[in-house]
Amino acid sequence: MASFSSFIGLGIFVLFLCSTGSTSAQLSNNFYFHSCPKLFGTVKSTMQSAIKQEARMGASILRLFFHDCFVNGCDGSILLDDTSSFTGEKRAAPNLNSARGFEVIDQIKSAVENVCPNTVSCADILAVAARDSVEILGGPSWEVKLGRRDARTASQSAANNSIPPPTSNLNALISRFNSFGLSAKDLVALSGSHTIGQARCTNFRARIYNETTLDTSLRQTRQSNCPRVSGQGDNNLAPLDLQTPTNFDNNYFKNLVNQKGLLHSDQQLFNGGSTDSIVRGYSANPGSFASDFAAAMIKMGDIKPLTGSKGEIRKNCRRIN
Ligand code: HEM
Ligand SMILES: *[C@@H]1O[C@H](CO)[C@@H](O)[C@H](O)[C@H]1NC(C)=O
Ligand SMILES: *[C@@H]1O[C@H](CO)[C@@H](O)[C@H](O)[C@H]1NC(C)=O
Repeated sequence: MASFSSFIGLGIFVLFLCSTGSTSAQLSNNFYFHSCPKLFGTVKSTMQSAIKQEARMGASILRLFFHDCFVNGCDGSILLDDTSSFTGEKRAAPNLNSARGFEVIDQIKSAVENVCPNTVSCADILAVAARDSVEILGGPSWEVKLGRRDARTASQSAANNSIPPPTSNLNALISRFNSFGLSAKDLVALSGSHTIGQARCTNFRARIYNETTLDTSLRQTRQSNCPRVSGQGDNNLAPLDLQTPTNFDNNYFKNLVNQKGLLHSDQQLFNGGSTDSIVRGYSANPGSFASDFAAAMIKMGDIKPLTGSKGEIRKNCRRIN
């Protein structure tokens, strides 16, 4: 009997250790329930007017969240401006002339500061704004886990090296996502983000001039606005989803099945390899894409957050306090 109760006592002690050990490192759905009840309404209404002004903005904000999370975790590091004494991530190869939407994050931040000063991190604002973008454009919704704090540092080299380039092959994509705790299924689901938004000629030139796995008529259409010669028309845009670039639907996967992926990395997901069946599944079943996408976004948002007393709550998303 004595040993039984000490066994229970030990169990309770272990549970206590586990919970105190992990609360500071975990995000939660209700983090701002008391401290900023107006957070969700404020982010949503600003995203609604930004998307009304330019539908692409939803895509741009979603991508910012991805590029934040893949560089030392979801810590708002991508939002920091370069200064004469500080090198941020905005001029890193995957972001230069490409990452956009920073003014919208500024707008949301200042609206949130008006209702709850010094309370909500820029990293959390980005997570909520990305969710709202997807929902407003017709995609799934999910409960965003919150409690991230903002980095006081950024890393241009990590941005150069951690965000996968569009020249990546399937194995490289799978192993890069695995390194962040994301599965091949998460990779395919998250790549479904390319059902919205635009890409620049420089990122699909090699595919439309040199690859045989591209639909012939799409090849001709894309070549007409993306010159073969490097340096010419590099920033000319084309939709990642040729059918409905401002609707968050499953057309991206239907495109891949028809050899109409715009990026090399897109078509790699349906090129005779291990992820073909996942792509085929999402192309046939929009509901399974929607629920897997939501689950994968929550997983991506969990990458190495700063919590507890780490980092800070920035007053201005562009600079450390
Ligand atoms: C799987 C590896 C991925 C690669 C290689 C990749 C690559 C790219 C490239 C090259 C562009 C076009 C950028 C430009 O030309 O300026 C792009 C756009 C975009 N990406 Fe990805 N991406 C990947 C995964 C993701 C993920 C996981 C998300 C979100 C969860 C995402 C969201 C987007 C969105 C929404 C756009 C359009 C942005 C806009 O129109 O402003 N991508 N991506
Ligand atoms: C990152 O890439 C950019 C653009 O290619 C380059 O100018 C910069 O030097 C690189 N930064 C680091 C730290 O490697
Ligand atoms: C196509 O491939 C050839 C041979 O590898 C290369 O020289 C050329 O630059 C490539 N063209 C484009 C547009 O990428």
